[in-house]
Amino acid sequence: MTHYTLPKARNFEHQISGKNTHLITLENSRGMAVALSDYGARIVSLLVPDKHGNPTDVVLGFDSIKGYLAADEQYHGVTVGRFANRIANGRFTIDGETFYIEPNNGPNALHGGANGFHSRIWDRRIVYKEKADFYYVAADGEEGFPGKLSVMVKYRLTDNNELIISYRAQTDKPTVINLTNHAYFNLNGEGNGDIHNHILQIQAANYLPVDEHQIPTGVPAPVENTPFDFRTPKLIGQDIMQPDDQLIKGNGGYDHNYILDTEALAKKRPVATVRSPVTGINLEVLTTEPGLQFYTGNFLTGKDKGKRGNPYEKHGAFCLETQHFPDSPNQLDFPTTLLLPGHVFESQTIYRFSVVK
Ligand code: GAL
Repeated sequence: MTHYTLPKARNFEHQISGKNTHLITLENSRGMAVALSDYGARIVSLLVPDKHGNPTDVVLGFDSIKGYLAADEQYHGVTVGRFANRIANGRFTIDGETFYIEPNNGPNALHGGANGFHSRIWDRRIVYKEKADFYYVAADGEEGFPGKLSVMVKYRLTDNNELIISYRAQTDKPTVINLTNHAYFNLNGEGNGDIHNHILQIQAANYLPVDEHQIPTGVPAPVENTPFDFRTPKLIGQDIMQPDDQLIKGNGGYDHNYILDTEALAKKRPVATVRSPVTGINLEVLTTEPGLQFYTGNFLTGKDKGKRGNPYEKHGAFCLETQHFPDSPNQLDFPTTLLLPGHVFESQTIYRFSVVK
């Protein structure tokens, strides 16, 4: 039996850009524990009891801040912003003025630019046994985005084994915003091979096909009769290797935004459910966001060795990133991602864990 523990707090005490970093831990009365770092306001570990009651770490990551700094993949567990996902050619226009974000993903700006929120040291505000708030102020012009943006990310761990992530932001100039969390989940336990045996359901009849640069073409497509259909529970591995043009554009797997069914959203029902038949761990995702990027770690290479020294290979995890649609600033048919002064951006996502025997 694998014995999973939280990383040592002292391994996260460091200085980055003159700011101290820490490990923050949350616990509930049901045996769940979460480790967070102010470096990227990120999730480091998520210990969840499996079907035998044994704590299992279900997110990829490293056991020290140095591990994160040296990692090939920058987005393990992070808060992504100011604009999650891709902006075509790093360009967009607000009120006739064009803004430019230096491309860091082929021709696109990805995840808020090279030095997005994932790379910043956030201030800790309130830290209790079951909650932690992180705060960051992005300067006007940071990474090319207009407006000074104050952002709060709140993590709450409930006794119902839910991790609730709430976002709140305000700007002093019109800007664009898209925030998400980039946890890489493996419900078999981190570093335990691929996620093909996981059973996934997504409440979405349509998704957004992409072009060769992974920018949505703008025309939603029905999932019906495609590998993208997860309306009834299906093994992630069932169709992932199919020679499907969209799976190939995703670098050999899923890396696409689903348009969540409005009924599931309106009724506050889970928009996605995933289960590991090995551990029995079941994850439900609830959100206020209209989209869900389902990503199967297609760019993981095995170069990164995780918390227990195991390589993080391609398909070694999945991400369910709740968000607005990619490239929204350039796609006027998509729900707007514009944030104006005097308005408050608010969004919430819940990762709820249980065991299905
Ligand atoms: C995902 C994105 C992937 C990849 C990953 C970071 O959100 O969809 O294409 O860029 O982030 O490695």
